[in-house]
Amino acid sequence: MKLAIDQQRLASEIESLAVFSETEAPAVTRVVLTPTERMARAWIKERCVEAGLILRDDAAGNTFARWVGSDPEAAAVGTGSHIDAIPNAGKYDGVVGVLGGLEAIRSLQRAGLRPKRSIELLIFTSEEPTRFGIGCLGSRLLSGTLMADVARNLADGDGTTLASVLRTAGLAGSLESAKLPAGFYKAFVELHIEQGPILEQERKPLGIVERIAAPASLRLTIEGSGGHAGGVLMPDRRDALCAAAELILALEHAARNSGAIDTVATVGMCDVFPGAVNSVPARVRLSVDIRDTDLQRRDGVMRSLKSACEGVAAKRQVTVESELLNADAPAECDPSVIGALREACEKHGFPFLPMTSRAYHDSLFMSRIAPTAMLFIPCRNGYSHRPDEYASPDDIARGTLVLAEALATLIAN
Ligand code: GLV
Ligand code: MN
Ligand code: MN
Repeated sequence: MKLAIDQQRLASEIESLAVFSETEAPAVTRVVLTPTERMARAWIKERCVEAGLILRDDAAGNTFARWVGSDPEAAAVGTGSHIDAIPNAGKYDGVVGVLGGLEAIRSLQRAGLRPKRSIELLIFTSEEPTRFGIGCLGSRLLSGTLMADVARNLADGDGTTLASVLRTAGLAGSLESAKLPAGFYKAFVELHIEQGPILEQERKPLGIVERIAAPASLRLTIEGSGGHAGGVLMPDRRDALCAAAELILALEHAARNSGAIDTVATVGMCDVFPGAVNSVPARVRLSVDIRDTDLQRRDGVMRSLKSACEGVAAKRQVTVESELLNADAPAECDPSVIGALREACEKHGFPFLPMTSRAYHDSLFMSRIAPTAMLFIPCRNGYSHRPDEYASPDDIARGTLVLAEALATLIAN
């Protein structure tokens, strides 16, 4: 079977999707379950219908587009990713796996394949934690990793619950129903940009992911005492922002000194109350994101943060409340799916690098219910989650070709 990727069409579809954004180009902002994200999703659904795929949305808002095989009862092979984008992001994160997945299916159709097993394209709900504070909501729910009751009550910045947002979007079913039965997928494979510099540095066009690092996130609320910036003298201060600053540096120190380059920790959000030039900060909320390829090391950083919270609270006479949002185990990718990707690279003579994903992906949770692996393509300078994120049409097409070959292998087994 000879496969051909329509590189131009794929590149132009990526450009078209980038227009669905709440910020000016080249930045893309597409927060889950907003009108912008719904319109983008509807646009892709139209492309799926044109390709003869059968559409279904589950109660969590995950979209499934199925190329139905001649044996519809056989477990399908899944592929896909997400289209939500964090504020001020780029065009490629997630999108390459969705539109690349669609083009991979179309290339198999054009080659005249008549699959026995179905191939299903997935567009997950809220891979990004932007709106509800926790990433991979859709894949957590369909893999049964997140309880429906907990998910229902997750609230966005306006206090609107996920259940209510889903209802408004016309997704009325019970969230419990999103959980997929065991064996639903024969295999799952996700194409994604690397979001790091290694492929570019190593001059390799493809990466085959063998392991996905373990993410954890927390929300810290620090309460001190506010007051007039002129009137409250320094010995009397219980400044919540100064306490937060100490905690941020303690976290950085713990990550830098974990003994491994794989440990990373980030405070990406800091809300200061009341937030006035001449007012002592009374309350601060921090987001904390900690990741590592090694679970024990990651948990060690979490323990260091906990003891810093206790120390700073006592020293500065503030209270520090810590809410754990998620602490996930890492994932090992499946040898058979890795094998299908390797075989595809070798068939075309494409060099590849076995890799670890330091970013998390829906594949982290798909791996809990299906043999899963990922394929990475390079992105310029390793940039991601910023407007100048870039992957070349050649690299995207090459990744899509390897994905298509791997899908063909996986449905045949
Ligand atoms: C996903 O976007 C991540 O933060 O790893
Ligand atoms: Mn992302
Ligand atoms: Mn992504």
